[in-house]
Amino acid sequence: MHQGVDNKLIVAKFAMHGYNIHPSAVEILKKNVNPQNIDFVISHICKLVNSFIITPDDIVSVLDTIKEFEKKVRDAEKKTKTKVEEVYKHSEGIKIRDITGRSSCEGSIEDFVAYFNSRFEKLSKILRKRIRPTPISALHRLNGEQVEVVGIVNSVRETQNNSAIIELEDKTGIVNVVATDRLKDQALELLGDEVIGVIGTVRGRNIIADRIIFPDVPMKDRAKFDFGVVFISDTHFGSKEFLQKEWNMFINWLNGECEEKKVAELAEKVRYVIVAGDIVDGVGIYPDQEKDLAILDIYKQYEFAAEQLDRIPENIKIILSVGNHDAIRQAEPQPALPKEYRDLFSKNVIHVGNPAYVELNGLKVLIYHGRSLDDIITRIPRLSYDRPHEAMIELLKRRHLSPRYGERSPIAPEKEDLLVIDEVPDILHCGHVHTYSVGVYRGVILINSSTWQSQTEFQKKVNLNPMPGNVAVYYNGGIARLRFCN
Ligand SMILES: [Fe+2]
Repeated sequence: MHQGVDNKLIVAKFAMHGYNIHPSAVEILKKNVNPQNIDFVISHICKLVNSFIITPDDIVSVLDTIKEFEKKVRDAEKKTKTKVEEVYKHSEGIKIRDITGRSSCEGSIEDFVAYFNSRFEKLSKILRKRIRPTPISALHRLNGEQVEVVGIVNSVRETQNNSAIIELEDKTGIVNVVATDRLKDQALELLGDEVIGVIGTVRGRNIIADRIIFPDVPMKDRAKFDFGVVFISDTHFGSKEFLQKEWNMFINWLNGECEEKKVAELAEKVRYVIVAGDIVDGVGIYPDQEKDLAILDIYKQYEFAAEQLDRIPENIKIILSVGNHDAIRQAEPQPALPKEYRDLFSKNVIHVGNPAYVELNGLKVLIYHGRSLDDIITRIPRLSYDRPHEAMIELLKRRHLSPRYGERSPIAPEKEDLLVIDEVPDILHCGHVHTYSVGVYRGVILINSSTWQSQTEFQKKVNLNPMPGNVAVYYNGGIARLRFCN
């Protein structure tokens, strides 16, 4: 027998669909359905039955369909697990994990259910190492007691009496968490849809919070490897504003043409160049973009990109990720470029999706183009486009690359939420905002790596001031900043 779902909750869930359910029918449902699948099963039943009062007979008549569905969910989970084990591709000390070749998303309701279940499972697993959550449905029996809960943030609102109310949901129910004083400020920085833990006291239907706990990353030592990695992004090949002269200086430096001895020596150490997306400027990305384009054809833009990357010494491996300007689906996670474009590039170019976990001879880099940074910087007033690494800290705290669902960053509801930061990287590398900043958070190096495009008319209109031609070079645990632009 399955336990764990409250009878009242089942009745309430049916009521939300406009149905009443007989108490004996609730009991049959509880005996036969895994609590994890209860939401989907309820909406499924509501589609199958004709009467407004659901009887035990109604439930019995759909039991076979329900069991079939649960089997499908189990099979899908098994499949996902096998896929996760397959994901590392080995090639000369390089391992890659991304969505390429394993997208299974069709955008159906079931996909959304599975996606959010995966997000909740992965993040609550991290939180459960530090707290022991009580199911929300059991809180009504614990009035006055201190409890720990884990849930997904549905909404946050400020109240008139100097507090904030977080609506928190787990698989068993919904509760309002009241955050006052310092916790109120923390609550108002929540983006929505992130999974958090709360420690607090039950007061009637609410929890008065004592602490809000983020999944966060553990403290670690900074990774030290004696090879160089160059971090760049947002090359925007094909744009009229592409900075050819500055790019040439960068290429010359990588080819050993630099008068300053120390800087030239650094180039000799470089074994990898990582590009965090927006390889080309693309076509039709924003209104009237053609006015900003030097190359109007997308294929020709990639031909030019391949030509420019070919100027990098061939002993250096180039890891090429994608962004919202590239010729691939916009919803994240994005797979690597399609084959027709990949084929234009030389053999030393390794194509990856967005995000991508890349392990380079032991150095773990998480590449994420950074579209969600727009949502975070807009939502949290203390953050700014001038210091994007501070917004990247918020991603690490939430252990998620795009916490807010359905804002400016579209997300594809894959069965497994690949935007969860399930593995703590040595370096988190983003781009997208076209500025440069570097920082360290709990031993993880954060890099936002500039652009090779000067300000476009569109960027002028939206007040975006790029900091182009800045390059971050990792060597032995440190980051050097090279400026190829005045
Ligand atoms: Fe960009």
